[in-house]
Amino acid sequence: MSSVSDLNKQLKPARNASLEPLMNIIRTDLEETNQIILERMHSDVELIPTLARHLIAAGGKRLRPVLTLGAARLCGYEGDRAKKLAACVEFIHTATLLHDDVVDESNLRRGNETANALWGNQASVLVGDFLFSRSFQLMVEDGSLEVLRILSNASAVIAEGEVLQLMNVGDISLTEDQYYEVIGAKTAALFTAACEVGAVVADRPANEVKALADYGTHLGVAFQLIDDALDYSAEQQALGKTIGDDFREGKVTLPVLLANQQGDADEQAFWKRVIENDQTDEDLAEALRLIAKYDTIGATFEAAKSYGLKAKESLDIFPESDVKTALLSAVDFAIDRAY
Ligand code: IPE
Ligand code: IPE
Ligand code: MG
Ligand code: MG
Repeated sequence: MSSVSDLNKQLKPARNASLEPLMNIIRTDLEETNQIILERMHSDVELIPTLARHLIAAGGKRLRPVLTLGAARLCGYEGDRAKKLAACVEFIHTATLLHDDVVDESNLRRGNETANALWGNQASVLVGDFLFSRSFQLMVEDGSLEVLRILSNASAVIAEGEVLQLMNVGDISLTEDQYYEVIGAKTAALFTAACEVGAVVADRPANEVKALADYGTHLGVAFQLIDDALDYSAEQQALGKTIGDDFREGKVTLPVLLANQQGDADEQAFWKRVIENDQTDEDLAEALRLIAKYDTIGATFEAAKSYGLKAKESLDIFPESDVKTALLSAVDFAIDRAY
């Protein structure tokens, strides 16, 4: 699968009712964004488009570019800049996925074998660098220093978040604050920037730019909370990623953090061993049992819902419109999703 029409076909089915309203509004823009993505992932060095196409043509939700296009539309923007910047945002996301799968030693992404599994870590890291660089070329073409500031800041913060997380791996004493610091950086920062640039291209006043940035931040935190819940609770086929990756890696996410906090002495000893020392193949089943015992998936969903509510409230300053309703509904998608 490699043509833009193939890519666009994936956008057609109503995979989730809550994202459909926004998709319907920005569909034509998103098709053009896909076209830009396909054009700009080209390189004469064949491995680059081959590897990039493997990941990009496998789909993905395109949630961040959808948000850029939606935010621009909410602000009444009708020009072409948002499409290029949406492509830029998706390139940043794709680059981080390539790097993240190397770091996490993941084997499955978007229902396919990961690039690192197929081509090795070196190729994945280098093509990730290429896509990052492409994203900067797109920012420069846009020509706005403000946009460059927002997206380059986000890129630095994402990298910081991933490094911070790496330093926290295998540490069961991680606090909730430290956990939120990581997800705010590695995930929410790009959601913030994706929404913020939508308002900036529309040349909206500072309070509207801030409202959209806040919407993105809260939505991004909610999104990662759900991602962390899904790592223990999703249907692997629907998720397209391997369940239990976070556990095997010794990554302390909210479902584990809360189960450990509420656990008795034996249970806390279990969590300490599996996160800080050694795991056997049976340990994931025991982890799932303890997560179910304290319903920490439920608690993680509740936390995501409260961030979702904050995301929605951030849009209060905008008058009612179809786009606003669609952006509110996109928050429900981030929380109710199965993939
Ligand atoms: C995966 O993001 C990385 C996280 C921040 C959890 P998505 O779940 O948006 O990945 P794709 O693009 O849809 O595959
Ligand atoms: C995603 O964190 C953060 C970034 C890709 C920057 P995860 O490691 O939880 O994402 P998945 O689960 O691999 O998609
Ligand atoms: Mg990962
Ligand atoms: Mg994850």
